[in-house]
Amino acid sequence: MRVTVIGTGYVGTVTGACLAYLGHRVTCVDTDAGKIARLERGESPIYEPHLETMLELAARRGGIDFSTCLGPATAASDVVFIAVGTPPLPSGEANLGYLEAAARSIGKAMDGSRFRVVVNKSTVPVGCGNLVETLVREGIGEAHPDQRRQIRFGVASNPEFLREGCAVADSLYPDRIVVGAGDPETLAVMRELYAPLVEQEFDPPPGVPRPAGLAQVRLLTTSLTSAEMIKYAANAFLAMKIGFANEIANICERVGAEAPEVMAGIGLDSRIGARFLNAGIGWGGSCFGKDVQALLHTAREYGYESKLLQAGLEVNAAQRQMVIQKLQEKLYILKGRTIGLLGLAFKPDTDDLRDAPSLHIAERLLQMGARVKAYDPIANQACRELHPDLKIRYCASPRDLAEDADALVLVTEWQEFRRLDLAELAAVMATPILVDGRNLFQPEAAAAAGFDYSGIGRAARPVVSRQLSVVSSNSSAG
Ligand SMILES: NC(=O)c1ccc[n+]([C@@H]2O[C@H](COP(=O)([O-])OP(=O)(O)OC[C@H]3O[C@@H](n4cnc5c(N)ncnc54)[C@H](O)[C@@H]3O)[C@@H](O)[C@H]2O)c1
Repeated sequence: MRVTVIGTGYVGTVTGACLAYLGHRVTCVDTDAGKIARLERGESPIYEPHLETMLELAARRGGIDFSTCLGPATAASDVVFIAVGTPPLPSGEANLGYLEAAARSIGKAMDGSRFRVVVNKSTVPVGCGNLVETLVREGIGEAHPDQRRQIRFGVASNPEFLREGCAVADSLYPDRIVVGAGDPETLAVMRELYAPLVEQEFDPPPGVPRPAGLAQVRLLTTSLTSAEMIKYAANAFLAMKIGFANEIANICERVGAEAPEVMAGIGLDSRIGARFLNAGIGWGGSCFGKDVQALLHTAREYGYESKLLQAGLEVNAAQRQMVIQKLQEKLYILKGRTIGLLGLAFKPDTDDLRDAPSLHIAERLLQMGARVKAYDPIANQACRELHPDLKIRYCASPRDLAEDADALVLVTEWQEFRRLDLAELAAVMATPILVDGRNLFQPEAAAAAGFDYSGIGRAARPVVSRQLSVVSSNSSAG
């Protein structure tokens, strides 16, 4: 089939590459000429494992090209995906400006040569399927006032569930595909589009193996509104699940229980499940906060106050603050101290910094008069460019970060941090304090390496070996 994907961000680029890999002919469109130029050179505009290989393979299979111009691609397409951003407004509601502009332009580009399906892949509040339909119709009316009735199209909601960092695998082997639509013709087009994915009729690309036993993917069809709600409900549930783990961890810490043990114990219950139970410094990223806020906003529009969702946001905000408290407990005074952040990206295997806990922590520390250093395997440059106001000293290696630092904070659980030589880091620090915001390290191993270690939801450990240097450094800095 002929497909256009509007928006070449984390969702659009991966969707476009995967659909072309499955054999569809895809054009990816973006208003950002810089992104399109990079894609035309075969470079991914974002850091996402396997994406550049997928773009190369996509070109050889169904075929993929890139454009800043939506019109010709839309006119030639059977399916047009909208995958533009829907960032939060200060009020918490989703900014639909990009979606509205895209929908209207799609309408203007349509002609009567075929039936087309406009698919909303952006995460949008309930009712946006209807809004897109109205805007496309208005676009048609503006460009072709005499053909308004002849130009036929359907609207589908097809929420995206990919996770950054494993977006290619999530797109090729999803847990489910949700398609919301009101008419059978639209549904039939969507079934045809996704048939290779549903039947898993493709060879796995290199490095992205098919999960054992996956023979078919479930395609769930719903109403437009239910599909829109499914996306918000899924993200809200996951955010609440992490928030719950953090609440329990905070209680564990006070009573002397070990949160990782407790989570392992409850995660084995098949009704609960082990994933998204890692206690830490809270979730971040472009989706959870924005989507929970947008859902709260929608509920309020209908006169409903969701206490649970509101509490989920508050628990997460407090969890980020926990790092500061732990540093204060260890160092007392943060003014003039040098704090090293291990990791900046909101999670491993991405360069995405949207709503990253690191930013909040760095900002708070800087406000309090601390010096902030950071090392991220991928996101240093993105942070430097996107947040020039944050006076962070970017380091080239974990060792450089540790040198003369008063404390390290593990913010992002990158794989490479699991293999750190903790003893080497502790040895070059002014005071070997480690706040493990993701419970990545074994407390015993960190203590044996010379660290005064604290995790999240872990009983306090006695300070070993380098306690004397902690004391002397605290007094000299005062
Ligand atoms: N990032 C994720 O992990 C993820 C997962 C699931 C769902 N989503 C949802 O998918 C949507 C896209 O998210 P993202 O992270 O890919 O966003 P993004 O900000 O990375 O990318 C959006 C892109 O759309 C482009 N754009 C905006 N208006 C345009 C227009 N009129 N025409 C063409 N291009 C336009 C922007 O230039 C940008 O490149 C959001 O609604 C988000 O909530 C994101």
